[in-house]
Amino acid sequence: MHLACSECHAVATADTLFCDACGGLLAFVLDPSAHDAQQLRRRFAERRLSDDPLDTSGVWRFRELLPRIAAEHVVTLRENVVPLYEARVGASYADATSLSYLHLGMNPTASFKDAGMTAAISHATSRGARVAVCASTGNTAASMAAYASRAGIVALVLVPAGGISEAKMAQTLDYGATVVAIEGDFDRALEVVRTLDPERVAIVNSVNPYRIEGQKCAAFALLEARGWIAPDWLVLPGGNLGNTSAFGKGFREALALGLIDRLPKIAVVQAAGAAPFARVFHEGGELQPVHAQTTATAIKIGAPASWRKALAEVRGTNGTVLAVTDGEIGDARAVIGRDGIGCEPASAASLAGLRKLRAEGTIAREADVVLILTGHVLKDGAYAGAYHASAAPFANAIRSAPSDAALQALIDEVTDATGATRG
Ligand code: F0G
Repeated sequence: MHLACSECHAVATADTLFCDACGGLLAFVLDPSAHDAQQLRRRFAERRLSDDPLDTSGVWRFRELLPRIAAEHVVTLRENVVPLYEARVGASYADATSLSYLHLGMNPTASFKDAGMTAAISHATSRGARVAVCASTGNTAASMAAYASRAGIVALVLVPAGGISEAKMAQTLDYGATVVAIEGDFDRALEVVRTLDPERVAIVNSVNPYRIEGQKCAAFALLEARGWIAPDWLVLPGGNLGNTSAFGKGFREALALGLIDRLPKIAVVQAAGAAPFARVFHEGGELQPVHAQTTATAIKIGAPASWRKALAEVRGTNGTVLAVTDGEIGDARAVIGRDGIGCEPASAASLAGLRKLRAEGTIAREADVVLILTGHVLKDGAYAGAYHASAAPFANAIRSAPSDAALQALIDEVTDATGATRG
């Protein structure tokens, strides 16, 4: 595997983040001819029975397809071992017949970031880095803080003041990071991080190609869980667009390796107030940054760093990009809850987007669809509380029973409504 520019394809000579020739983002290039699909499938499956720390990670289990890092430098929390759930209520809400959720919120720090972070922090450790730094809307911060602590290195996090959920802040502080709340949004925080010297600090935002390598393993885990049969569509939320780049790369490599025989189409869903990627996808030209506004704080991003990579991946699959309103995200999140699963607001953009793509006929009712849930339901309790206290369609208000008689009446009402009998 070697590093090259994702835009001008110049080969990178050092461990840098941006291309010396054109400033583009770097990406690892895999040589598919060096591998045998049958052998890979067998090896990946065998490792699921092993207790070796590398094999119990849903990232390092796929290590033949990753940049080489010596085992003693690998920092793992057994990330990317995640469930694929049938989505019954979600399917009916979107008017689809074959729908599942890949729940990346079931990771050690409860978001998809862990799959990338194990790779980025392991690489930083192998280079002898002492400090890891990131800009974040909360999940990258929590994940980086956890892995940096495991590695024994300092974590420095830049977040928009007042812009991340209480749970994400609590995790990040618990894991021991130095948190700086800046006057400005995520885009400003990332701008500052990009000016830092990568020789002095390890920058672990998704501009770091190791992050993408780790996160592409979610595509491998998904395909493996489906017997190496690609779905028709993969629908996921898009913010800074590292995850779209990672899934696209994972699917492309799986196809080139002969692990699958076709590419799933990728649909990226943005919040309407933070949708510069949807616009550039449909209108062409250069991405025009926006001042992002959405209650789905995780994807409140107006100048996505990986838009070029992500655009190439989505176009390469004949996929699409769309935007949904905050109201649609809120309802979709509550519906995912009714499946007994739940997720954080940004994740639910996926179901809101699917519903829209079904309504306009872009995705057929019978299509085999996987939704990516990027973060756990407990990531944002305040959001859920506000939704259920509102008059929204799936709001589930807290009932009160001011007296014993009122309580008895309520119990009778609930049990009678279900036709429950005693005994
Ligand atoms: N969903 C969640 C829950 C996220 O936290 C993020 C990004 C996304 C979706 C979008 O993924 O940026 O790869 O397109 N969160 C970052 C953070 C920006 O700092 O935690 P993307």
